[in-house]
Amino acid sequence: MKILLLGKNGQVGWELQRSLAPLGEVLALDRHSHDFCGDLTQPARLAQTVRDWRPDVVVNAAAHTAVDKAESEADLARCLNATAPAALAQAAAQTGALLVHYSTDYVFNGQGDQPWQEEDATGPLSVYGQTKREGEQAIVASGCAHLIFRTSWVYAARGGNFAKTMLRLAAERERLTVINDQFGTPTGADLIADVTAHAIRASLQQPTLGGLYHLVAAGQTTWHGYASHVIAQARLIQPDLVLKVGEIAPVPTSAFPTPAQRPLNSRLATHKLQKAFGLVLPAWQQGVNRMLAEVL
Ligand SMILES: NC(=O)c1ccc[n+]([C@@H]2O[C@H](COP(=O)([O-])OP(=O)(O)OC[C@H]3O[C@@H](n4cnc5c(N)ncnc54)[C@H](OP(=O)(O)O)[C@@H]3O)[C@@H](O)[C@H]2O)c1
Repeated sequence: MKILLLGKNGQVGWELQRSLAPLGEVLALDRHSHDFCGDLTQPARLAQTVRDWRPDVVVNAAAHTAVDKAESEADLARCLNATAPAALAQAAAQTGALLVHYSTDYVFNGQGDQPWQEEDATGPLSVYGQTKREGEQAIVASGCAHLIFRTSWVYAARGGNFAKTMLRLAAERERLTVINDQFGTPTGADLIADVTAHAIRASLQQPTLGGLYHLVAAGQTTWHGYASHVIAQARLIQPDLVLKVGEIAPVPTSAFPTPAQRPLNSRLATHKLQKAFGLVLPAWQQGVNRMLAEVL
């Protein structure tokens, strides 16, 4: 099997390099790759890569993920998150490849307190959410075989992440303020990559499994709950760690104004994915604890 991976150095892309390796030959590209174009600002050349290399599966882990920056560079965000996936989807439809793509909880408007189902109406609040929704729609409209995974609050051991920022601040300050009215689920890039590999195998054997799925770890929390867990767990793992912080104060989203509006309710229901692929999604704390054990 031949698998084309785009965005190989992102959080999810990096883990996909590992999880896709046992499935076959993986051509992993980033925007700087030379022999084949992996640059999402060049949709036509990207489509040509698919037509030239003829992969059985295209996995697109690249995106414009800078949510606040997207507000002031909507054209670039649209190119990366909608136009490029549309071009990949058209090429996949022509060549018969399966397209795997990632989307986000930010396609929803964040109202209510129930987990969003795949078929619920979307209502993005930001340019990022809007362009990611356009990407989803273009893939479906192309008629290509596809798997779209909406995920949320992604972290990885490699690179910067929310947990590492909290640990740094906890070492420097006695009091932290953390948002307590956005609800969602921290999800490890490693879990996303592993589920992707299982789902690719299953859907190649049974093409009716194609479609849109929510893919997040089990359970839910707020950024405040997440930060509190990280600091408590860090103290457990490394009793010698000097963390000055004594108080982690919960604050509303309005305490940290940002250019892009975030949904308050980012809970995603995952029954569809677990049932379709016979998989179990572990509690979010399990992945976070593992990541902390790696980075501390
Ligand atoms: N991060 C989250 O919390 C989150 C939440 C929900 C959904 N998602 C979705 O999950 C997927 C993976 O996200 P992630 O967290 O792994 O993102 P990430 O770490 O920000 O990685 C995104 C990748 O896209 C690449 N990229 C940017 N511009 C490009 C271009 N013009 N051509 C080719 N590649 C380009 C980046 O390359 P450089 O390293 O060269 O910049 C980076 O490697 C995305 O579809 C994202 O929308 C993420």
